[in-house]
Amino acid sequence: MAILVTGGAGYIGSHTCVELLNAGYEVVVLDNLSNSSEKSLERVKQITGKETKFYKGDILDRDILKKILETEEIESCIHFAGLKAVGESVEKPWEYYNNNIAGTLTLVDEMRRHGCKNIIFSSSATVYGDPAIIPITEECPKGTCTNPYGWSKSMLEQILSDMQKADPEWNVILLRYFNPIGAHKSGLIGENPNGIPNNLMPYITQVAVGKLKELGVFGNDYDTPDGTGVRDYIHVVDLANGHVKALDKLKENVGLGIYNLGTGTGYSVLDIVKNFEAATGVAIPYVIKPRRSGDIATCYSDATKAKNELGWTAQYGIKEMCADAWNWQKNNPNGYEE
Ligand code: NAD
Ligand code: UD1
Repeated sequence: MAILVTGGAGYIGSHTCVELLNAGYEVVVLDNLSNSSEKSLERVKQITGKETKFYKGDILDRDILKKILETEEIESCIHFAGLKAVGESVEKPWEYYNNNIAGTLTLVDEMRRHGCKNIIFSSSATVYGDPAIIPITEECPKGTCTNPYGWSKSMLEQILSDMQKADPEWNVILLRYFNPIGAHKSGLIGENPNGIPNNLMPYITQVAVGKLKELGVFGNDYDTPDGTGVRDYIHVVDLANGHVKALDKLKENVGLGIYNLGTGTGYSVLDIVKNFEAATGVAIPYVIKPRRSGDIATCYSDATKAKNELGWTAQYGIKEMCADAWNWQKNNPNGYEE
């Protein structure tokens, strides 16, 4: 039996493939490589000594889904495939809803037609909007999203929950990720954003490597200890391991499970700059800029539910997150491109 990993060549997907292979799973990846490189999977093989089976294709393509589900013995799917750039989603809402929502509807339809009704879905803390409770528990009501990307996650959570309710043979786990950063210790796989990064850590590592001049800090007048935005950064390897634990949970016929994957600790933008400098010895020049539209002041998790029910807690601290992000960036200044 194998695990189908959609979007497995991407940032979180490739790290999860490593942990799945290390845990003894067979892994089948479906990825259209729209935001990734097949080289990540070669590196996964280098790290683990094991191979993933790779299908280049789209979750919107029923033929390739049928082919996979008929050829491979898929027991569960970890569904990462999706578009994730917040700003781009505002410019191209149709493309985002089509890829993320129509893509997932096609995937789960073919899964159920082939008798595979176990799925772990990549959701996001963005579904909490401006959170009503800090730290955020899973009981915190979902909020208003500020962009189509966020809405696609929120709507997909609803769709998958409704499908599970209507057909209890489904086991659905919604994992709400906080802010994944860092990279595998080997420095062989990591985050490889297209163009100028939107997210904080890849921006910092590109400043450190000399590709960008300075970091713009988006606002220092929030109601936080130093005025800059506070987030729950989590090492991507910890996040990947959360998926291995979630697979164990699926096997208990969980029905519907919803879990935050975060560390439970919040760091401000300036905390991250300082920790990065301390962990790497590289100075990060920065300037204060206006607030970024759609940002909130504070977002960090209460990670107790995942600890109690999945037996999962984050192992790595901010030092490792910074050191590992830098190790990846400095060894691969152009990502997977030579
Ligand atoms: P990523 O872009 O590196 O990986 C996504 C992968 O999906 C890419 O390899 C891309 O080529 C593939 N893909 C996209 N559309 C596809 C399609 N229609 N068919 C087949 N493959 C397709 O992103 P990531 O950071 O690894 O994120 C993985 C998932 O986690 C995404 O669903 C994302 O929305 C979600 N998520 C990410 C974060 C984050 O901060 N990185 C936070 C919360 C949730
Ligand atoms: C963002 C998205 C969120 C998505 C997540 C992962 C927005 C509003 N939210 O989360 O929906 O799930 O990425 O893709 O885009 N910052 C700077 N300078 C920078 C970049 C970021 O100061 O150049 C600050 C931000 O204002 C924020 C913090 O750093 O306070 C983290 O930002 P980022 O890494 O983009 O993550 P989120 O905004 O939390």
